[in-house]
Amino acid sequence: MLTVALSKGRLLEPTVEFLARAGIAVPEDILNSRRLIAPDAQNRYRFILVKPMDLPTYVEYGVAGAGICGRDVLLEADPDLHQPLDLLFGRCVLVLAGLKDRVLSPSNVLSTTRVATKYPRVTERYFRSQGLPVEVVYLSGSVELAPNLGLAETIVDLVETGRTLEENGLEVYERIAESSARLVVNRASFHVRHAEVQELLHRLKEALG
Ligand code: PRP
Repeated sequence: MLTVALSKGRLLEPTVEFLARAGIAVPEDILNSRRLIAPDAQNRYRFILVKPMDLPTYVEYGVAGAGICGRDVLLEADPDLHQPLDLLFGRCVLVLAGLKDRVLSPSNVLSTTRVATKYPRVTERYFRSQGLPVEVVYLSGSVELAPNLGLAETIVDLVETGRTLEENGLEVYERIAESSARLVVNRASFHVRHAEVQELLHRLKEALG
C-alpha cells in the first residue's frame, strides 16, 4: 500500500476532486473527522493529511511515498524529491504586494524595507536576485495585516482570487512565481515501489486528459 500525503487547507478539496476523477476515492472519514490517516476502500493507498508546508518533509523522509502539494511550498522548502507531474489545479501566484497607491517596486524599494511573509526563503532569493537587501519578517498567516499595521512595508504572499488583498486595501506590485498542484515522489520509493508509483502516475495522467 502506497502512502500518499495530502495538503490540508485550500488545496484539499480540489485534490480530492482530482483524485476522484482519477478513480481514487479519498475516504470520507478522513475528510469529515479529525482522523489524519486512513486507507482507501480498495486498500491501494493510505492517505495522510498534513500541513502544506510539512508535506515535503513527510515525503523526503519516505514515511509517505508520494504527495500532492503546491509549487509554492516546493519553492520554499526546496526538497530533494521527484516532481513528475504538474496537476494543473490550485493555480495561484506568489506576489510582492503592498498598500494601494504606494508607488513601490523592487527597483525603488528602500533597502531598509521590511517584508512580511510565510515564504522567507522565496522572499530572500527574490530580493537577492534584485540586488536589494531587505529584512524578512516571518509570519505563519494573515500576512495581509502587516502593511496596514506598519509591521512591514510589503508582503510576499499567495494570491488566488485576489479577494484577500482587495479587502485589505493591498495591491500586487510584482508577480514572483506561478504555482499549481504538483505530484511529488520520494526518490527511493520511485525505484523501490516502482509499480505502485507508476500506477498512480498513470491514473493521474489519465485524469489530466
Ligand atoms: C492564502 C494566502 C492569502 C490568501 C489568498 O492564505 O496566504 O492570504 O490565501 O487567497 P485569495 O487571493 O483567494 O484571497 P490562506 O487562506 O491559506 O490562510 P492563511 O493566511 O492563514 O495562511
